[in-house]
Amino acid sequence: MQTDPQSRADLLEQLEEVSTQLLQSEKLAAIGQLAAGVAHEINNPIGYVFSNLRTLANYVEDLISIVDVVDTVPSLEELRRMKQRLDYDYIREDVKALLTESEEGVERVKSIITALKDFSHIDEEGFRLADIHEGLESTLKLVNSELKYKAEVVREYAELPEVECLPSQLNQVVLNLLTNAVQAIGAQGRIVLRTGHEGNRVWFEIEDTGSGIEPEHLSRIFEPFFTTKAIGQGTGLGLALSFSIIKKHQGHIEAFSQVGQGSRFRVWLPIVQPLSEEEPSRC
Ligand SMILES: Nc1ncnc2c1ncn2[C@@H]1O[C@H](COP(=O)(O)OP(=O)(O)O)[C@@H](O)[C@H]1O
Ligand SMILES: [Mg+2]
Repeated sequence: MQTDPQSRADLLEQLEEVSTQLLQSEKLAAIGQLAAGVAHEINNPIGYVFSNLRTLANYVEDLISIVDVVDTVPSLEELRRMKQRLDYDYIREDVKALLTESEEGVERVKSIITALKDFSHIDEEGFRLADIHEGLESTLKLVNSELKYKAEVVREYAELPEVECLPSQLNQVVLNLLTNAVQAIGAQGRIVLRTGHEGNRVWFEIEDTGSGIEPEHLSRIFEPFFTTKAIGQGTGLGLALSFSIIKKHQGHIEAFSQVGQGSRFRVWLPIVQPLSEEEPSRC
C-alpha cells in the first residue's frame, strides 16, 4: 500500500500513541500482579494479629474481673481460687507470646508497605542517587509470595557506589526480570541476584535455572508483544518496557540463555548520567 509522507507521519504518531498506551497497560498489569502478591503477603500476618487481639481481649476481661473482685472478696483464699479458675498462670505466659508475635506481624506488614512505597511514585521523580541493592531487595520483598515456594534466592553482591537513576523505574525492570525468572522455573529452582562494578559503570543481573530461551527467540524477546506465554500469562511487553527504561538511563541490557539450563539478564548502567540531564519520566 502506498502512503504519502503526511499520512505516514500521522500513522507513526498514532503508533507512538498506541505503544505508549500499551506500555501503560503493561505497567497496570504489573501493578495488578504486585497487588495480588502484596495482598497475599499481608493477609497472613493481619490474620494472626487479629486473632491474637481477640484472645488478648478475653484475657484482659478475665484479668479485670480478678482485679475488680479484690474490693469485695471475703478472703485471700477465694481470690487465689478465682485466679486458678481463670488460669491466671497460663494467661500470664500467653500474653507475652501473643504480644511478641503480634509485634512481629505488624513489623512485617510495615516492611512490605515501605517496599511498596518505592513503586508508588513511579512517575513523580527525576534522576537521583540510589543504592541498587536497596532496589533489588525491596522488589524481592514484593514478589516474595510467588517466589518463596519455587526458588532459592542467592545473593552475590559486590561493593557498589550509588548510581544516578530513576529508582522506581529500575525497580520495575527488576520486577519484570524477576517475574520472568519465576515464570520460567517449573517446579523448583534457583535465582541468583548478582551485582558488579567496572570503571564508570555498574551492572546487576538476575539468573535463573528455568526453562531457558530458544536461540531463535533470543533475538526477539525485547520486541513489544513477543511472548511465548499463554494469553493471560504474558503480554510480551515486560522486556520491551524494561529495555526502554534502561535506554532512558543510557545503559543496556544483555540476555544469555541455554535451553534447559536457564537464563541470565544483565543490566549495565552508567554511575553518573553522561549529560546529567533531567529527563521527564515518560514510561
Ligand atoms: N528468564 C526467562 N526465562 C525464559 N524465557 C524468558 C525469560 N525472560 C523472558 N523470556 C522470554 O521472553 C519473552 C518475552 O518476555 P516479556 O517481554 O517479559 O513478556 P512476557 O513475560 O509477558 O511473555 C517471554 O515470553 C519468554 O519467552
Ligand atoms: Mg514478562
